[in-house]
Amino acid sequence: MSTSENSIATPNFIGMLIQAQEDALAAAATSDKPADMLRLELLGAKSELAKLTKQIRSVPKEDRPQVGTVVNQVKKAIVEAIERKNVSRVTSHVSQEDFDLTEPGVLPPQGHLHIVTQAITEITRIFERIGFTRVRHPEVDWDWYAFESLNMPPHHPARDEWETFFIDTPKSKRQIVLTPHTSNGQVREMEKGKLPIRMINIAKCYRRQVDVSHTPMFHQFEGMYIDRNVSIGHLKGFIDYFVKQYFGPERKFRLRPFHFQFTEPSFEVDISCGVCLGRGCRLCKEGWLELAGSGMIHPVVLQNGGVDPNKYSGFAIGWGVERTSMMKSGTKLDDIRLLYGNDVRFLEQF
Ligand code: PHE
Repeated sequence: MSTSENSIATPNFIGMLIQAQEDALAAAATSDKPADMLRLELLGAKSELAKLTKQIRSVPKEDRPQVGTVVNQVKKAIVEAIERKNVSRVTSHVSQEDFDLTEPGVLPPQGHLHIVTQAITEITRIFERIGFTRVRHPEVDWDWYAFESLNMPPHHPARDEWETFFIDTPKSKRQIVLTPHTSNGQVREMEKGKLPIRMINIAKCYRRQVDVSHTPMFHQFEGMYIDRNVSIGHLKGFIDYFVKQYFGPERKFRLRPFHFQFTEPSFEVDISCGVCLGRGCRLCKEGWLELAGSGMIHPVVLQNGGVDPNKYSGFAIGWGVERTSMMKSGTKLDDIRLLYGNDVRFLEQF
């Protein structure tokens, strides 16, 4: 082991290295010189670290590897300090001088119309083109408009079809319901006293049913046309127009005899399946999907609305918005309640 005058004890040498590191870090933190100059000053040939590195020969030979490791650590710490300095200089530089006000910002998340609202808008547009005007009637209404005026007196068994929510009212008062269908708009529209009538009534409806294919609140839209000499031919033209506009020119429909208290005759409307075009497939079984209820307005209903059934006739047709829009998009929801669950991950898809 050499014990010449120039020799330095290892602990002392390491102490000098640590001191050099501390000085360098302090200089890097406080100096406002550019990174290149700092690098030259703190790591260059004339730096304290360079001087010490040269003196490494002064420590006992067997300690040199250990001291070498410390030298490398100090060097690394200084390099990192200069880099940090550089980054913060760049950002503060940008925020003060080069901030570009015209650069496009980051957009906040954007919503869009609910799928049912989109469908309502589209349906409204389609009927506007043939002169049918969208109207609104109460969604909480007298039993009279929802049932009695439609040929369904209290306790009539046909009412069972509509699983109705009733509003508590004193016995002496008339019964109020949450409208279970948009047909309450029929007599209300006639009462406006203007003929002919070309109405589209779109509204929320309520029924006491909740399961995978029912929500207690849903939407229906109801078309009604009253004029002199309105026939089943007009009804068929109306349906054909809608089916082709909304679903596409290749789709067909058919009327099936049915019964409603407020139309005579009554029909259910089926539309040919969009997948197999009526040939029959797994989705539709027989080629047809049920779309709507319809018929020629019953003379008693016309009378209830103050319209003379000897002079005028009309058709009415009503159907569900949710079902119809699902049928168009081909979306097979295994749970229709998803529509109103407010889960953005679901709603974003439409
Ligand atoms: N209101 C009926 C329903 O909810 C549909 C319908 C409307 C039937 C108009 C005939 C005429 O099922």
